[in-house]
Amino acid sequence: MERRQYLQIPGPTNVPDRILRSLSKPLINHRGPEFELLIEQCIAGLKKVFRTQNDILIFPSSGSGALESTIVNLLSPGDTIVAVSQGLFSERMAAIGEKFGIHVVRINKEWGEAVQIDEIKNLLMQDTEKKIRAVCLPQNETTSAITNDIEGVAKMMKESQHPALLVVDAISSLACLPLEMDGWGIDVVITASQKGLMLPPGLGIVALNDRAWKLVEQSTSPKWYWDYKAVQEKMKGGQFPYTPATTLLFGLKEALDILEEEGIEKIWERHGLMGKAVRKAVHAMGLTLFAEEEYASDTVTSIGMPDGIQYKELAGLLNKDYGVVIGGGLQQLQGKIFRIGHLGAVDQLDVYAVMGAVEMALYRLGYHVELGTAAKAVAKTFLKE
Ligand SMILES: Cc1ncc(COP(=O)(O)O)c(C=O)c1O
Repeated sequence: MERRQYLQIPGPTNVPDRILRSLSKPLINHRGPEFELLIEQCIAGLKKVFRTQNDILIFPSSGSGALESTIVNLLSPGDTIVAVSQGLFSERMAAIGEKFGIHVVRINKEWGEAVQIDEIKNLLMQDTEKKIRAVCLPQNETTSAITNDIEGVAKMMKESQHPALLVVDAISSLACLPLEMDGWGIDVVITASQKGLMLPPGLGIVALNDRAWKLVEQSTSPKWYWDYKAVQEKMKGGQFPYTPATTLLFGLKEALDILEEEGIEKIWERHGLMGKAVRKAVHAMGLTLFAEEEYASDTVTSIGMPDGIQYKELAGLLNKDYGVVIGGGLQQLQGKIFRIGHLGAVDQLDVYAVMGAVEMALYRLGYHVELGTAAKAVAKTFLKE
């Protein structure tokens, strides 16, 4: 029997049929008026999702490319940045900085812990010469499944009057978790297509404000493909300095229409509810959350592997018998946790089905749980009982 697949890794996410259909449209001239209109519509839609009036640039790239683009455009060799390192992806930002000769001051956190605002504040206060150019951190660290308090960090940075930019990796949180680029005063927001935007991988997207553009003007780091000024110049006229990912842009337009129809605040609310339902089911089944509960993410949940059960057995059974694909732990967390993505096109019955499948698979692997526990916890969350 052909069965629906539940792709519950924390991105790429399930792609809605409407978007899949838009991806099969015949190509158009990427230097013609039809394309110009497409770009105009995509930018207008993205502004609503980023909650910004600032410029937004699109690259044919993965999220890591977009991260690298911010380093080479905002900074120059010898500059100093603060980078929160609390998992594979936040550490990647620090590592990219070092590759380009940036002095990176890390705030090292245990994986599973969120950064505390005072940890950033202390570094800014000590920096009397105002050498720190930027503070870089993810809104959502996907490897450990925690969410940092970006609103709080932005508020503190504004009050500190330190000139450092706030650079936020929102790759696994944009169009899922509340984020107000202009309202909170975030200088740079980075995302990618394959998570909350519900598209296949292949687009890196960066929004930056006037403060960030000032640093772009000063940056001496070499770049060509990533050159924000060149891309901005071309995008103003609805073009790119190179051949863009036209098909993904068709998809982006469709995705933005879908997001607009639901409304961004409703989308944030839905993700909040899905995250809560997953965590309730986890607790009810006697499993343990890996992330600090207070900072547990509403887009992905990390769960400790129960004693005696191997990740590969669980993931294999879920995939083979239920069509549910989950993620494993990365690097030091390999074999220790499993991760369930609940971002993008995910609704009540998806969570109900996925958590039910997790329960059945664990039960079959010898885990002691009363059948129906997950379903009950999920339903009670949705019915607010
Ligand atoms: C928070 C975060 N940052 C960066 C990345 C890297 O993005 P990509 O794999 O598209 O290069 C990911 C990927 O999952 C991510 O979740």
